[in-house]
Amino acid sequence: MRNTIIAIMITVSLVSCSTFDRNNTRDVNLQLVAESAYLLFPIEDNAPEKQVTIQYSGIDEATVNHMRLAEKNIDYWVKMDINNIAGETFTLVVKNADKNIPGIKNIKQSDNFTFEYNETYRPHFHFSPELGWMNDPNGMVYLDGEYHLFYQHNPYGTKWQNMHWGHAVSTDLSSWTYLPDALAPDSLGSIFSGSAVIDVNNTAGFGKNAMVAIYTSAGQVQSQSIAYSTDKGRTFTKYEGNPVIPNPGIPDFRDPKVFWHNESNQWIMSLATKQTITFYGSANLKEWTRLSEFGDGIGSHGGVWECPDLIPLTFAEKIKWVLLVSINPGGPNGGSATQYFIGDFDGKAFTAEALPYPLWLDYGRDNYAGVTWSNIPETDGRKIFMGWMSNWDYANNVPTKNFRSAMTVARELKIKHNGRHLVVSNYPVVETNALRASESVKNDLVVENEALISNLLDTNKGTFELEMTLQPHNAGVFGFMLLNSKGEELEFRFDMTTGFISIHRQKSGLVDFEGRFAAGMNAPLVKKEAYKVRLMVDKASAELFINEGELALTTVFFPTEIMNTLKLYTSSGHVNAGNITIYSIN
Ligand code: FRU
Repeated sequence: MRNTIIAIMITVSLVSCSTFDRNNTRDVNLQLVAESAYLLFPIEDNAPEKQVTIQYSGIDEATVNHMRLAEKNIDYWVKMDINNIAGETFTLVVKNADKNIPGIKNIKQSDNFTFEYNETYRPHFHFSPELGWMNDPNGMVYLDGEYHLFYQHNPYGTKWQNMHWGHAVSTDLSSWTYLPDALAPDSLGSIFSGSAVIDVNNTAGFGKNAMVAIYTSAGQVQSQSIAYSTDKGRTFTKYEGNPVIPNPGIPDFRDPKVFWHNESNQWIMSLATKQTITFYGSANLKEWTRLSEFGDGIGSHGGVWECPDLIPLTFAEKIKWVLLVSINPGGPNGGSATQYFIGDFDGKAFTAEALPYPLWLDYGRDNYAGVTWSNIPETDGRKIFMGWMSNWDYANNVPTKNFRSAMTVARELKIKHNGRHLVVSNYPVVETNALRASESVKNDLVVENEALISNLLDTNKGTFELEMTLQPHNAGVFGFMLLNSKGEELEFRFDMTTGFISIHRQKSGLVDFEGRFAAGMNAPLVKKEAYKVRLMVDKASAELFINEGELALTTVFFPTEIMNTLKLYTSSGHVNAGNITIYSIN
């Protein structure tokens, strides 16, 4: 590892002579020669943000990055790629900073960068960013055997900031290969959420089958921009005519999701506009016409509407259109959640059919901003969804170190009838079955009071699946919990007296990193003779699916020891628990 601290110490003396401000700080200017692949910065999670820019000859406008440079302790390091200026002299400017803080004194160059990837809560079969913060999935598109997943990424810290589009690809929707960030902030702003399409007919003129990303430029105002790739998403060129939709004077104007609508022969964009969704049409992805607006007076309006997705799904041999709308705050259990509407789309406007809105795709507190993949081959035809497995109520404070948060598993969306009304079901894609390594079938149980299965797996690494069928007989409140020897528990409770299912995580391990985390989550439960349960557990997350995704609840939790015991219980009557199967995960 080549390390040029000495060079930094020498050049620190070149700090410019700006005057001190009241905090005894001034701009720190470090003049350096780019000798290695990376510039490494020491970060402290709760230190204040500093504005960091890199200036070198020929750069028009240096991007301002915000970094929590360590002031007392170094919690972790982040890297900035400086290969593009190899051999050149550059100036690193930190605004309003004390040059003696550890976060500046220890900045160094290196060709290597290592860190503890497999930290305690790193998921095993869910996508998580290699390093840094992640929120929404973006630009999900399938091309030539690869599922592309772009995502809101801060490469320079594990809290929300400096939005880039991170990038990963998969051939099976569960193992992912990290690729370099695809889009970085520019003079129009940072890169907020959006989508990607394959321009099969070269409508935009970027080339046949170009991958076109449509995203929000978030600067002084939010506007919509596009960028294209002709090398399967490996590199993108931003369109010189950006923004393609300027801001019309409203603050929340973002998250374009685009698809080709055959019937009206145009691209359709759904865009979140304050607390409505506005639809736009375009022949070429560059010029857009406003078509209609949906959302006034319907659904939940407890917060701003974000990340829409309009998709056709077949039900009873007819096409119905589903509009997904994430909302924050205003979710059914506090903070972030995704509501949906079922109805019709005529190429211009979306109309919702009468249903008991708001309806939620996932009643857990940790499934947000999810949308579906575009360009799935017609022979496949599935609508495949993935969400961000966190909640704005506490996302910035969850107890991980080098990365923050993960995505849900890929789920297939369908319209079903739950016995009361139509729902959009979401259930792990069939590909996830291949993750199962071994299968352990337990004896059927008749649960009166309680029953324990104390050794779910001989070697439990905190990653497993549980399937079972629960049949309540005069049972008022029944359910199951995962337990460990420290008395930590994650409880899944069916309450037939109130007609709710709930998850309780207040005793599930680390909970006090944020006041709003411990509270549980409820979902309305339709009375049925039997509930088919599938629970996917991956270190710090549990995704619960009832009756093949008719109902989904996703939660994160942070146990301090792996939970290898299952307890089933009932307050009255009895519960037959059958087909109890535990799968270890590859
Ligand atoms: C949703 C969201 C989007 C926005 C992005 C910014 O979680 O707020 O509306 O584009 O995150 O990172």
